Amino acid sequence: MSYHSEGIAPHGGHLVNRIATPAQRQEFLGLSEKLPRIELTNRSVSDLQMIAIGGFSPLIGFMEQKDYESVVTDMRLANNLPWSVPVTLAVSEEIADSLKEGSWVRLDDPSGKFIGVLELTQKYRYNKAHEVVNVYRTDDIKHPGVKVVYDQGPINLAGPVWLLEREPHPFFPNYQVDPIASRAMFKDKGWKTVVGFQTRNPIHRAHEYIQKCALETVDGLFLHPLVGATKEDDIPADVRMRCYEILLERYFPADRVILAINPSAMRYAGPREAIFHALIRKNYGCTHFIVGRDHAGVGDYYGTYDAQYIFKEFEPGELGITPMMFEHAFFCKITQGMATTKTSPSKPDQRIHLSGTKVRELLRSGQLPPPEFSRPEVAAELARAMRVPVDSY
Ligand code: ADX
Repeated sequence: MSYHSEGIAPHGGHLVNRIATPAQRQEFLGLSEKLPRIELTNRSVSDLQMIAIGGFSPLIGFMEQKDYESVVTDMRLANNLPWSVPVTLAVSEEIADSLKEGSWVRLDDPSGKFIGVLELTQKYRYNKAHEVVNVYRTDDIKHPGVKVVYDQGPINLAGPVWLLEREPHPFFPNYQVDPIASRAMFKDKGWKTVVGFQTRNPIHRAHEYIQKCALETVDGLFLHPLVGATKEDDIPADVRMRCYEILLERYFPADRVILAINPSAMRYAGPREAIFHALIRKNYGCTHFIVGRDHAGVGDYYGTYDAQYIFKEFEPGELGITPMMFEHAFFCKITQGMATTKTSPSKPDQRIHLSGTKVRELLRSGQLPPPEFSRPEVAAELARAMRVPVDSY
């Protein structure tokens, strides 16, 4: 693992910054009516932001063909650096035909607001079936990540980007901590080792257990819930953030934990996304990264520990961040505490664990998850958010 003065080295060695300077911004604004424009999806807006703030270092733009092909096939950029998920900007044939390689393109968000520019260096056709089978390990259109690929256009636009302005997050401005800031915070706190935690679900006791097990062996915990696009039935980010606030206040030591938002969009690529998530947290300055059961999985597409096995496909040190693997955690009725099969003598019927789907079902039917699964304060918040009648809790 390599360190420099600002802690662990970002992926590729340098923290990318593609936020336009005030002068560049003025220049781009002056061109805004002359440039051809395309409208980004929410995911592409997230990708643009992540590139700009260095969360996707060393990427400085949407992938050109040689990087794209190499990532899809070999999980590496063309220069051999590990990278597991394509970061591409797909458009329709008509849009691609209307744009010339070598020109600048104005990037608008879905509301039509000018938010960035793309220096279009390349446009290329790509093979969707090849991409999904490699990245998502399935071509089932019911997989939410696969569906995005099949729904998007057939041509990728590639090239360096600039974000016009880094604006405060509309809902979580206090939790918007970009990689340069998280690195400074870790340094300030004197944390040499920091474990990152990815999540897209409301915090439950198994999350808390593995976070705290990890924290026992490092200096700090970086709680980094994803707030970019998720599938429709996932619990909304504002509810998840409130659950975190409530829990942090009562159950975590304030000086050992930082809560910050991860603006990325979810891909649900399971194992491939676990590597991607780890590299992102490395860019935020984490030295360690938690990978539990079915990380970034959806439905039954991935084996429970596939997202852990994939780390073996890289040489030690190549990723530059250390995964901390955890087995499936549950409440053990025998020991009356959280545990895994590594630490509990229980039989399956002596364990309490609920899937995310089960929790959503419970809430929808007006019931709350039991205290062995969710802290009561979190269950109450979920109930409020999901409008479960008051007398049920
Ligand atoms: S994810 O899509 O972001 O991975 P989730 O928020 O449920 O979904 O998980 C966050 C992290 O906690 C992942 O590393 C996941 O593997 C881990 N995790 C979730 N539930 C458990 C559990 N019961 N036991 C062990 N690890 C878990």
